[in-house]
Amino acid sequence: MAPSDPILGVTEAYVADKNPKKVNLGVGVYYDDDGKIPLLGCVRKAEEQRMKTSPHRGYLPIDGLAAYDRGVQQLVFGSARENIVTVQALGGTGGLRVGADFLKQANPEAQVWISDPSWENHRQLFEAAGFKVSAYPYYEPRSRGLDFAGMERTLNGLPAGSIVVLHSCCHNPTGVDLTQEQWRRVLEIVMSRGLVPFLDLAYQGFADGIEADAFPARLFAEATAPVFLSSSFSKSISLYGERVGALSVVTGSAEEAKRVLSQLKRVVRANYSNPPTHGAQVVATVLADPALRKQWEDEVGAMRERIKLMRRQLVDRIRARVPGADFDFVLKQRGLFSYSGLTKEQVRRLRDEYSIYAIDSGRVCIAALTSKNIDYVADAIAKVIA
Ligand code: LMR
Repeated sequence: MAPSDPILGVTEAYVADKNPKKVNLGVGVYYDDDGKIPLLGCVRKAEEQRMKTSPHRGYLPIDGLAAYDRGVQQLVFGSARENIVTVQALGGTGGLRVGADFLKQANPEAQVWISDPSWENHRQLFEAAGFKVSAYPYYEPRSRGLDFAGMERTLNGLPAGSIVVLHSCCHNPTGVDLTQEQWRRVLEIVMSRGLVPFLDLAYQGFADGIEADAFPARLFAEATAPVFLSSSFSKSISLYGERVGALSVVTGSAEEAKRVLSQLKRVVRANYSNPPTHGAQVVATVLADPALRKQWEDEVGAMRERIKLMRRQLVDRIRARVPGADFDFVLKQRGLFSYSGLTKEQVRRLRDEYSIYAIDSGRVCIAALTSKNIDYVADAIAKVIA
């Protein structure tokens, strides 16, 4: 019997819970203030357009819908380029796995380095692709910030060809991101040591904005090759179950890009043959239509602002209940999550006594807080930390 998944297993337990007051702060999903996963207005309109034309449901090409792949490149890198290959993938996870399988074939001896801590699935995914996975220092619990000196020191000691997984923004689980200066420094190390950066961009638009959050991707793509980048529309366009993601590889030339594409297609074909149609067509429509694109940006902006409001309200409510409790760090963290500092035991009490579900690491999804459940959650947290 395998253990349940550290994130999706929490959702399974939540679904089975009969308590009407239950709250799922586990999985990284954005909910609106009614506790629903929103169907964005731009998506609704794109779907209406799609239904009117009744497009066929034949197979997509192995590398996905061309308009979608081009749209992803423009969104992530600022423009589509001949030396960049993008293949549609099954969510961000799919993009990571296609990239991992490709890298294992290209350089079987390479090691993979992820941040300490990292998204629970990073280790398991790269190990499943056959890699030895180690962690570089990242989060410093004392300052609740970044151990950049430790990160630099470790990256500087890695052998050439090592694959370094980097969270582009909204670091999962900590919410602690690198500054632009620190990104430049990491790029220098990557280039001087001959490392292979693998950026994970799952939350574009949730930190500072759609363009601003692409900063690391554009910085790296301008300066070096190869760069691997997995991106996802699960959160940013709220199409989780449609599995709309991509893998992009920045190569040294248009010619190399063709060869890389040929190999990526072999990986995809051997795994799931070709990707699904609906989500990619919806996203391609939204990205290409100026009015829908503008609407999407506004809708992402509203999601980002609601998360910030929930951060503020949670901090204020805990302070009102536990004078002296300093949760201000929650305001500085970016994206869906707060690395709350709650211990495993406190997380267990939240679940067993209040039907509030969080990840054992203490990660809570701020985007699942609403004006209706925030007092209940603040009360419960106050009780377990008291
Ligand atoms: C999360 O970290 O909760 C999300 O990225 C969902 C997942 O697949 O784990």
